[in-house]
Amino acid sequence: MKLVINGNSVDVGDDPEMPLLWALRDIVGLKGTKFGCGVAACGACTVHIDGVPVRSCQTAIGDVTGAVTTIEGIGSVEKLHRVQEAWIAEQVPQCGYCQSGQIMAAVALLAEKPNPSDADIDDAMSGNLCRCGTYPRIRAAIRRAATIEGA
Ligand code: FES
Ligand code: FES
Repeated sequence: MKLVINGNSVDVGDDPEMPLLWALRDIVGLKGTKFGCGVAACGACTVHIDGVPVRSCQTAIGDVTGAVTTIEGIGSVEKLHRVQEAWIAEQVPQCGYCQSGQIMAAVALLAEKPNPSDADIDDAMSGNLCRCGTYPRIRAAIRRAATIEGA
C-alpha cells in the first residue's frame, strides 16, 4: 500500500489494519509523531489527513483516504511554520513528549480559525494532554502564532 505522506508517495506495507502511527514510525521512519496512550485519549499521535487532525494510533492505514501530514511536514529548518516559531518564542516544551501532537492540533486550529478566542483554543486543544502542564504557554504560543503572517 502507498500513502501520500508530507507530499511524497510512500510504501507503508501491506496490512490495512496497521495503525497509521505504527506505519509512520516503524515503516516510514518518521519518529516525530509519538505513542502516548494508544487509545485516542492523549493526542500525542496527532497528524493531519487532508488538514484535519486525527489520532494516528486509532486510524488504520486502510482507512486513510487523504494526504497525511506529520510534524516533519509542516515546516523545515530553513523555514519553520509560524506555530513552531511561536512555540520557540514562548519556550513551550518541558519534556517535549506531547509537543508534536500539540503543534499539529494548533496548526489545524489556526487553519480553521485564524484568530481563535481563548475558548476556541481551549476547545480545540482539550484532547491534547500534557503531563508537564505546559497549557498556559501553549495558549500563549497559539495567540502569538495568530499574529505571525504565514500559512
Ligand atoms: S497515542 Fe494516540 S491519542 Fe494517545
Ligand atoms: S511537555 Fe512533557 S508531556 Fe507535554
